[in-house]
Amino acid sequence: MHRKMVVIFGASNILWMVFAASQAFKIEIFPESKIIAQIGDTVSLTCSTTGCEFPTFSWRTQIDSPLNAKVRSEGTSSTLTMDPVGFGNEHSYLCTATCPSGKQEKEIKVEIYSFPEDPEIRLSGLPEVGKPVTVTCLVPNVYPFDRLEMHLLKGDHLMKSHEFLDPMDKQSLETKSLEVTFTPTNEDIGKTLVCQAKLHVYEIDVKPKERETTKKLEVYISPKNTVISVNPSTRLQEGDSVTMTCFSEGLPAPQILWSKTLDNGNLQVISENATLTLIAMRMEDSGIYVCEGVNLAGRDRTQVELIVQEKLFTVEVSPGPRIAAQIGDSVVLTCRVMGCESPSFSWRTQIDSPLSGKVRSEGTTSMLTLSPVSFENEHSYLCIVTCGRKKLEKEIKVDLYSFPRDPEIEMSDLLVDGNSVTVSCKVPDVYPFDRLEIELLKGESIMKNKNFLDDEDNKSLETKSLEMVFIPSTEDTGKVLVCQAKLHIDEMEFEPKQRQSTQTLYVNVAPRDTTILVSPSSILEEGSSVNMTCSSSGLPAPKILWWRLQNDRDPQLLSENTTLTLISTKIEDSGIYVCEGINQAGTSRKEVELIIQVAPKDIQLTAFPSESVKEGDTVIISCTCGNVPQTWIILKKKAKTGDTVLKSTDGAYTIHKAQLEDAGVYECESKNEVGLQLRSITLDVKGRENNKDYFSPELLVLYCASSLIIPAIGMIIYFARKANMKGSYSLVEAQKSKV
Ligand SMILES: *[C@@H]1O[C@H](CO)[C@@H](O)[C@H](O)[C@H]1NC(C)=O
Ligand SMILES: *[C@@H]1O[C@H](CO)[C@@H](O)[C@H](O)[C@H]1NC(C)=O
Ligand SMILES: *[C@@H]1O[C@H](CO)[C@@H](O)[C@H](O)[C@H]1NC(C)=O
Ligand SMILES: *[C@@H]1O[C@H](CO)[C@@H](O)[C@H](O)[C@H]1NC(C)=O
Repeated sequence: MHRKMVVIFGASNILWMVFAASQAFKIEIFPESKIIAQIGDTVSLTCSTTGCEFPTFSWRTQIDSPLNAKVRSEGTSSTLTMDPVGFGNEHSYLCTATCPSGKQEKEIKVEIYSFPEDPEIRLSGLPEVGKPVTVTCLVPNVYPFDRLEMHLLKGDHLMKSHEFLDPMDKQSLETKSLEVTFTPTNEDIGKTLVCQAKLHVYEIDVKPKERETTKKLEVYISPKNTVISVNPSTRLQEGDSVTMTCFSEGLPAPQILWSKTLDNGNLQVISENATLTLIAMRMEDSGIYVCEGVNLAGRDRTQVELIVQEKLFTVEVSPGPRIAAQIGDSVVLTCRVMGCESPSFSWRTQIDSPLSGKVRSEGTTSMLTLSPVSFENEHSYLCIVTCGRKKLEKEIKVDLYSFPRDPEIEMSDLLVDGNSVTVSCKVPDVYPFDRLEIELLKGESIMKNKNFLDDEDNKSLETKSLEMVFIPSTEDTGKVLVCQAKLHIDEMEFEPKQRQSTQTLYVNVAPRDTTILVSPSSILEEGSSVNMTCSSSGLPAPKILWWRLQNDRDPQLLSENTTLTLISTKIEDSGIYVCEGINQAGTSRKEVELIIQVAPKDIQLTAFPSESVKEGDTVIISCTCGNVPQTWIILKKKAKTGDTVLKSTDGAYTIHKAQLEDAGVYECESKNEVGLQLRSITLDVKGRENNKDYFSPELLVLYCASSLIIPAIGMIIYFARKANMKGSYSLVEAQKSKV
């Protein structure tokens, strides 16, 4: 460590000495005039002569104090060796050489210093952010300290400098120091402290001796904000695992210590890892866990309490705590246990009635099968689970319903325009019907609805219905009648059960406006043809039937065509023809009378008892016109003066007490629109006495066959009118009133 430093002055003197060796007696000293030596070094001073063969040397200090050195003289030189240099050597030394030719003396000054070590940096404590700290820089064993200068830097920043100018009162080695107090900040992390010391041992213009020490500034942050995160939870069950992670801020990063608080309050360290995982926990593992963050600057702790609870088993029921089951279905109630290895099961109803079902238990599951579900199953069922000493119960309430089929729409009658009809919507086998709602809609509009709320509670399947009277019209055709039934079992946490039926309406129209068209006419000559065409309106289009009325007999069905054609008619075809329009909604009738006319023929004119009678006899002259109706019969007596029309009854003319004048030609004229026929006979009256009765002939017009024909035609017209007004009338009634 001791570096020997000798600094030599006056090099020109040495050269001079070499080249002037042969000159007169002279004395030289080396080094010349001054030497600066460090305490502890070895320093030699050499004194030599020229021009004197055997000089004697002596050394002394200027103040005659001890030399504190060893002298060795040999020939023309003497060496004074100071080993080591100490305070006792700080003198001006004089070397005296005595030669016979005289005495010579030289002086040399020895200066000393001490600056053996680099400065030392000391800190009053750990430099913590925010806490004042004192930095001291020490320069030990320094001399002469009045030449010392010190600087203390933090990074590039000069914190303090000092020149130790105080006068020295004694020769000694001293330790000098410089102190700075500052408060570290985060910015100081990583900076260096530098202490520079300079000792000015030489004259001002020569570089001083320098020593420097640097020290990295270790800034500390005491642990703080220590937090614990717990996953999954601080409340745990037996057998669970938990992971706790602790984090603490600080510089350097704090070390984490996990401890558990013992019953006596002491802490037991359990881990030195930030993450602490505890597996398969027991209840005894409950307690307070402490996490501590530690570094050189300090420590910070926080704690968490873990609670490990006894593990409980749980029971789950399905389909749920309440189910709605349809009568007749199969329902399985399931009871499932979690957290128990081998549970034992039992089932009962809340009122301890028979289960009415089958139980099957396996492992941690037990099932109660109700098949088919019936009224006996409408209970709250309890599943009782025993696990060890513990027992748990779960309830499943079974609510029943029945709603197996869609509603049925029924009509009391065929739908006929304008006729009221009763619609009913029936919901069969429903339960519980106090939750039933039935709604009848036409299209989108509600016509009627009904709730069966006030019906008494009876455990049975019932058929409920909604009835409504309505009068359909043809506009309703094509519309849809909807019957919607809802079973509100909403309390059972279900959507309302809903069913519906629809029926598309078809409204019939009864036949009406039945008309007959007769072509060419309803009065015909025998042998001609006639077309009778019937039409009737209604929905669906009515079917046409042609009937013929017959006296005392059932009407005769003639045709199912709209047109009834009679070809080459005969007199027997005369009569009343009825057209009937028929569809499922009703009938409408119309009748027409067909009259077939023939020219009169087969007239018979007879005299009774004979055509030859005696005066006073009674004679009946009778004219019959065969079977031709609507024939006028005129009975006449021919005479030259003009014909006399006779008054007859039913074509018969009676001559009471025939006179001679009654003899003559009698003529019968049978006549209708189609033609006429004549017949005549000659009556011969033979004379007798006393026959004087006077006969005045009278005009007589009569109908052939029936004098009732004219009133009968009148009646037919009357009934036909009536029929037109009503649209239809009874065929039987019409006949009755005519007979
Ligand atoms: C700390 O925990 C980590 C991960 O959990 C692991 O790798 C490491 O070995 C543990 N150290 C100690 C000292 O237990
Ligand atoms: C329940 O219904 C049954 C069968 O329909 C019937 O016989 C019984 O009288 C009803 N009971 C009540 C209280 O209405
Ligand atoms: C009756 O109808 C048929 C067919 O339409 C026709 O040929 C005939 O001439 C018609 N007869 C009368 C008398 O109108
Ligand atoms: C009238 O109906 C009869 C059966 O009743 C049928 O044979 C005939 O062809 C039909 N005539 C016409 C013109 O439709």
